[in-house]
Amino acid sequence: MTRVAKAVTSLKILGAACLVAGSASVFAADEPAKAAPAAGPSPAKQAIAVRKAAFLLIANNFKPIGEVLQGKAPYNQADIAKRAQRVAFLSELLDGTFPADSNLGTPDTKTKAEAFTNAAEFEKLLKEFQANTKTLAQVAAKESSASDAFKAAAKAVAEGCKGCHDKYKEK
Ligand code: HEC
Repeated sequence: MTRVAKAVTSLKILGAACLVAGSASVFAADEPAKAAPAAGPSPAKQAIAVRKAAFLLIANNFKPIGEVLQGKAPYNQADIAKRAQRVAFLSELLDGTFPADSNLGTPDTKTKAEAFTNAAEFEKLLKEFQANTKTLAQVAAKESSASDAFKAAAKAVAEGCKGCHDKYKEK
């Protein structure tokens, strides 16, 4: 064997040894978890995490739309249409994220207990919001300026945020 071939061979052996050592330690780390299954977040806590994440992304994408509505930014149809489409999609992700057992109160959730005791009204607000975001996406796809139609559709969505928060979200 040449020196280079020898060096390559020993590197290969070293690599294989590392792999074995690596997987051995992975198994070792796995064992205790199997012995005592780690208690992951409960379904209620997962639902809370999902709705918070969805709202955060909704807010992030609605922001430029709100700025146009307030006259703080120019209307860029490509951007606004894309944002509106995302908000409409993201609002659908809220479906099923307010199960009764997720009424845990602060600090786990800022959803007020009334959202669960008035679940039918809360669901209705959520459905209206989803419908309004869909309308906004359709309008923004057509409107090349911050027209009255765009403003009305964006306002309906913005009022939905405020209306629901005033009633069902802790400050
Ligand atoms: C149907 C009711 C409803 C509508 C409509 C609604 N929200 Fe909310 N929002 C809530 C509730 C309830 C919470 C509290 C969630 C929790 O902590 O469990 C919340 C939480 C949030 C949060 C905090 C998320 C976090 O990281 O904790 C943001 C931001 C937010 N909403 C933005 C918006 C925006 C922007 C809109 C409109 C485009 C909107 N929401 C529409 C009910 C609503």
